[in-house]
Amino acid sequence: MHLKGKSAVVTGAGRGIGRAIALLLAQEGASVIVVDPGVGRSGEPTEERPADDVVSEIVAAGGKAQANYDSVSDYLKAGLMIKQCVDAYGKIDILVNVAGNLRERMIWNMSEDDFDSVVSVHLKGHWNLCHHAVKYMRQAGYGRIINFSSDAFKGSVGQCNYSASKAGIIALTRSIAKETYKNGITANAICPSADTRMTLTDTVKENRRRKFEAGLLTKEQYALTLVHRGPEYIAPMVAYLATDEADTVNGQVFHVERGRINTYHFGEEYKFLHKGDDGMFTVDELIETVPASLMSGIVPVAPIVKMADAVSSNAAKKESAN
Ligand SMILES: NC(=O)c1ccc[n+]([C@@H]2O[C@H](COP(=O)([O-])OP(=O)(O)OC[C@H]3O[C@@H](n4cnc5c(N)ncnc54)[C@H](O)[C@@H]3O)[C@@H](O)[C@H]2O)c1
Repeated sequence: MHLKGKSAVVTGAGRGIGRAIALLLAQEGASVIVVDPGVGRSGEPTEERPADDVVSEIVAAGGKAQANYDSVSDYLKAGLMIKQCVDAYGKIDILVNVAGNLRERMIWNMSEDDFDSVVSVHLKGHWNLCHHAVKYMRQAGYGRIINFSSDAFKGSVGQCNYSASKAGIIALTRSIAKETYKNGITANAICPSADTRMTLTDTVKENRRRKFEAGLLTKEQYALTLVHRGPEYIAPMVAYLATDEADTVNGQVFHVERGRINTYHFGEEYKFLHKGDDGMFTVDELIETVPASLMSGIVPVAPIVKMADAVSSNAAKKESAN
């Protein structure tokens, strides 16, 4: 038992990755507040109460847990989640922010509500819980915060609300890591990859099958998509980051997928142009030099359609439609 005597709040702990984490933290000896209102994939209310099932499972195995059914996006209720942990178990040692929803649309089709909903659960929800928890953790001189980002932080088609939130969660985590390390608190982030209702939808399965049947995936590639990538593979890294032994791991981002964990190398200066300390580039100089210097060898994030090509391709489409 690596977390004996510790107490934890795990959000989004009723299903998927959060559930696997709550179960493992409890198995390792932590008392857990299982936060989950049991909403649908887009955040819509349901009659389900998955937090109760997880609490029952933990208690049946001899552990300690309590449910909380509120939303992480509510500032005051988020404070009460942390307080529930302190009232029930005397302190808050570990905070794991896993709760998440999805509202997928291209930016031109995304409503303001789609944007606000995802940002308020992911980015604001993370901030809410961290803000309240850190107040207690600073006083105690101890804390472990593990946040959930996603590879979508790099930018993702049809998910700009989500990817912006997940990039924000990395910046939030690294900022907390810098602000609180002197108080014995570490903050790290995970970019997971696991089969849950968020990722392995019927549409995703159907698309893979269609690609295979259309010859776009080999038999081996298709077989790889069927390999079990359960959320339980994510939990051990979270439990490790929550231990006393991980006290020097701070401000880091880890990708976890099945039995493979990797770090990222990003945010460091790469190439530069320098015109001297008093120099200032003209726009003409930049047009001339940037492609062969700063941009040399850099692959654009998506193929760029030149304005002239786009205009002529649209004109051709209209002509063939007429
Ligand atoms: N599964 C993956 O491959 C993957 C990839 C990248 C990132 N993530 C991230 O990991 C986290 C967990 O994802 P998952 O795949 O387990 O999803 P999931 O949908 O299986 O579980 C998410 C849980 O969060 C709960 N939840 C939603 N809104 C909430 C709110 N406002 N307050 C409290 N709880 C709320 C839901 O009820 C649900 O039980 C998410 O933050 C997600 O963005 C997952």
